[in-house]
Parts: sequence; structure tokens; C-alpha cells
Amino acid sequence: MKNKTPNNFQSGIHTTNFWDEFLAKPICNSHIADFGRDKEKLNGLWNYGIDQYDTCLRNRWFAEHTHDADGRALPQDCSFDSWETIPVPSCWNMQSERLFLYEGSVVYTRKFTYKQRRPDLGERVFLKFGGANYRAVIFVNKQYMGVHLGGSTPFYVEVTDVLQGENRVLVVVNNTRRSESVPMENTDWFNYGGLYRDVELLRLPKTFIRSLKIGFSQGEIFADIKTDGAEKNATAILRIPELEINTKFEITAGAGRVTLPAKPVLWDIGEPKLYDVAVECGEDVLHERVGFREICVRGGEILLNGRSIFLKGISAHEDSVKNGKSVTADEIRENYALAKEMGCNFMRLAHYPHAEVAARIADEVGLLLWEEIPVYWAIEFENPDTYCDAENQLVELITRDINRASVIIWSIGNENTDTDERLDFMSRLADKARSLDNTRLISAACLSDTVNLQINDRLIDKIDIIGINEYYGWYDPDFTKLPKIFANSKLTKPVVISEFGADARAGEHGTRDDMYSEEFQLDVYEKQLDMLSKIDCVKGISPWIFFDFRCPRRLHYLQGYYNLKGLLSADKGHRKLAYYVVQGFYLGMNEE
Ligand code: GCU
Repeated sequence: MKNKTPNNFQSGIHTTNFWDEFLAKPICNSHIADFGRDKEKLNGLWNYGIDQYDTCLRNRWFAEHTHDADGRALPQDCSFDSWETIPVPSCWNMQSERLFLYEGSVVYTRKFTYKQRRPDLGERVFLKFGGANYRAVIFVNKQYMGVHLGGSTPFYVEVTDVLQGENRVLVVVNNTRRSESVPMENTDWFNYGGLYRDVELLRLPKTFIRSLKIGFSQGEIFADIKTDGAEKNATAILRIPELEINTKFEITAGAGRVTLPAKPVLWDIGEPKLYDVAVECGEDVLHERVGFREICVRGGEILLNGRSIFLKGISAHEDSVKNGKSVTADEIRENYALAKEMGCNFMRLAHYPHAEVAARIADEVGLLLWEEIPVYWAIEFENPDTYCDAENQLVELITRDINRASVIIWSIGNENTDTDERLDFMSRLADKARSLDNTRLISAACLSDTVNLQINDRLIDKIDIIGINEYYGWYDPDFTKLPKIFANSKLTKPVVISEFGADARAGEHGTRDDMYSEEFQLDVYEKQLDMLSKIDCVKGISPWIFFDFRCPRRLHYLQGYYNLKGLLSADKGHRKLAYYVVQGFYLGMNEE
């Protein structure tokens, strides 16, 4: 690029297309199976700068040109090591009033030392970022390593060849909302920004197990592994001690599969049995902790381990009063405990991949999960770059959670208009999901045809479970339409009502006609549940939503920048009246 001269005052003032250079090396599908591996956390206080005009990228601060070719000092507009500090992981929005509503770029940087552990064996080193919203441009020791798009999936960067004793990592995180992104610039949730999940350093043998997909189907345990490294052919061993399994199998051209008859105690909602698994290959040993179960649809039923189930669910955002999107494991455990106390066996983790630990904890406590990528509302369905971004987020979600028994549904989107471009875009996503994982169910939260009072979304042919969002009693006061949309539709697949609900300000009381009162919300829930319980094809519900959440579209004086459709207050300290209606409905059902 013509203006790639070092950082003199002209180099950065005329650039308009400066992002092109830093979008040139997308980090895609970079997942490494790393459960139980020895990871060194790079969490803690990083130096940061609020870079509203992207001067770091325009003037190439990352290259640290502090002197000219003749060794004369150049004026600097950044001072990495004397900048203020910010905790990683965290959302910058939660760190100060000045940052609460900030959207743009923040430069994160820190130093770290590295010493090779096994010089004799040689090792490969990766940086793992658990999540950064939305763009993250990675530099290590002044070198551009690539860019990750997508605000909710982990990514890995190999740094083996650029590491030295003393190292600097510098990350430009940009959360600007863009029409071509996934999601696009208009959503119904808060646009947090930052390195908001763990940053870790991962050491691996020169040839290592990159992926493991393990499961149970028709009386057999299967395990697929892929390796990464020069040794393409090897013998691997699958060990599941509690099942007395120690089975060798061959790795050829970097891949191998083993299937063997087994009778594990099946993972189930009431008994979330997990097994310790290890796969050995060459110098590498990968550990996992998995549940074996089967999920499928047959006719209009959802079957878990062959048993017809009703998904007694609730939707939730990844949002907390204190931490924003950096929800902690403790907060997730609290959410799941409250959901189970309400009688849930299912949660819809809307509208994007939640933290990696969310599915691991659901595995432990026995909750079924709907996980989703943020193909939300008016995505640029005709834009090929947007499709690549969406598909990569889907691949990164599926590869991350492929071994989680709790995850039963991959959802490819929410409330998109049924156009030809959208049908093509989401059909390709559904095909991609099935190609990666034919053991789970594909869904999407669809809209009904409110003119003809029908469910006729053409995407239905491509998904296993029909998700339907409907707001009779709130956005459409006429409840009589709810049974009509089903009576007018010939649905042969199970339906999950993926959203219904109404706002209520916690503690606000009035009559059943007073909007934003708990009594109004109670009335909506009573009528919804009464009607839905009489519609045979409905095999699950995940009302919107478990707890109030921040939302910049909600400016009514009672909302106060929050979407108040929660059954709980945002801090989960208050249960609204409708909470007890749902609890009574679920606990009154006579099945797991
Ligand atoms: C939509 C959407 C949600 C939104 C909700 C609401 O259905 O899927 O993300 O928050 O309705 O309007 O509260």
C-alpha cells in the first residue's frame, strides 16, 4: 500500500481506506480443543487507549516507530505503558461513565514474558481470545497477526514464530455497529465492547489434537479426531475409564474415527451423567468431560433418549447489571438454579453464543440449551461478506460446543423477513450446520404471517424445529389471532414458541389493563399459556425473557433503558407475578 511508510505525520492523515489492510487476514474457524489443557491466563490489567479516530491503525502505532531512519526521535501520540489500565476480561462500558455508551475502537496492550518449556521437543504457542466484540485486530511484537469478526465466539492465533523473551500483544477492539455485520447495526440489546472473555496462552506439541467430536448414537460411542502438525499418520487411543474403554485407532492424513458398542448411563435432564474421556495421540493427550445422549425429532415429537419431551424453557440474554456481557460462571450458575427452581428443563441462550462455560455448566446441572448465532432482523442477506461472517460464527459456535450434551438445538437466526435472499442465506447456514453436526436439531426463531394469520415461512422446510416468536397480548392486543395462526397452518414438525411476553416494571402494580404493571404481564402470561397448552404441535416454549436487560431502544420513563419483559428484575432480586404463573405451569406438567 502506497502509504505504508513509517509513522510520519503525513502517513496517517490522508488514509480513508485504512481498515482494508487490517481486514486482509481474517481469523476463521481457528478453534482448538483445549479443555483441561495447561493454559496461562493473560487476564489482568492491560493498558488501554480510547481510540475514537482509529489513529493506532492510521498512524501504525503498533509498529512503534519512535525514531526516524537517522535515529532522531519522532513525536508520539501514544504511550502504551503509561496509559491507564482496564481489567481483561471486562466490557469497557462497565468501567466508567465516560465509556458506558462509547462505540468505536479501544487499543488494548500488555507485555508478557515467554520461555520455551521443552526446547528438545519444540512447542507451538497460540493466543486464545474467548470473545471480543466486534472486530479484533491482533498484533504481537509489532506484527499484524490477523483480524477476528464476530462478537461472541472464541478465536486462536498461532504466535510460535513471533515470540521472544519479552513480548507485546496489542489488540484493537472495535464495536462499531455496521449494516454488513452479524448482527447489523439495529438490535434489541446493548452493544457492549471489549476483550470481555479470557485471554490465554496455550502451549501445544508440534503435532497436536486440534478437534475431538465424541457422542453416542444407536448403541455406539463414536469419536472423530483431527490433528494439526507434520505427523499426519499415528495411532491414537480413546480412553473412557468408567466404561473400561481403551481403544486404539488409526490416524491417517491427520484424521481418524473410532466407533464402538457401549452402554453408558445416558445423560438426561434429571441425571446429567458425565464421563471423563481422554484421547492420546503421539505426544499429545486431550481430556474432555462429556455426557452421552440422543436427541431427535420424530413426527411432531421431540425425543430425548427416545422419550417424548416438552421443552419447559425460558430465554435469556448474556447480560448482567454489574458485568454487562462479561457474565461470570457464578452468575450463570445462579441463572440456571433460578430457571430450574421455576421448573425449567430448557433455556434459549439468545441471540448469540454465550460464554463457553455456559454449556459446560448446563451439562453439569442438566439443562437443555438452544444456542444461536446473531443472524438477527435485517441482515444484509445479499452480501457475500456478511454470509462469510455469519457462517464463520456458526462454525465457531458448533466447533466450540460440539461435545456439550446440554446443547440440543443450533439456531441460525431470529425474526428475519422471508425473502429469497434470506431463504438462500439461511438455507446455506442450515446445510453448513448439518454438515458439521448431524446429531443435533436445527431451528430458527421465525415470524408468522400476520396478514394471512398463518405460519408459512419458507425456511421451515430446512429446519427440524419451528421456532415462532409471537407477541399476542403485547405488540398485538388481539389474542384471538393466536389459535388462528396455527389452525390456518399445516405444520408437521414440532413447534417451540421461542418468544412471547410483555413488559412489566418490577414492583409496578395496577390493574390487568395497566401496561407495564406486573398485573398486565401476569394477564398476558395466563392467556398465552392457556392457549398454547391447547395447541398440539407446540412442544416447547421459551418466553421472552428471564430477566430484564439493558437495551438502548427502550426509552419509556418506566423502562429506563431496559427491556422489562423479564420475569425477574435485572438484578434477579425480584420475581414478578408472572414468574409464579410460569412456575405453576411447568411444575404442574406431569413429565421431566
Ligand atoms: C423480538 C426480539 C427480541 C426483542 C423482543 C422485544 O421478538 O426477538 O430480541 O427483545 O422481541 O421486543 O422485547
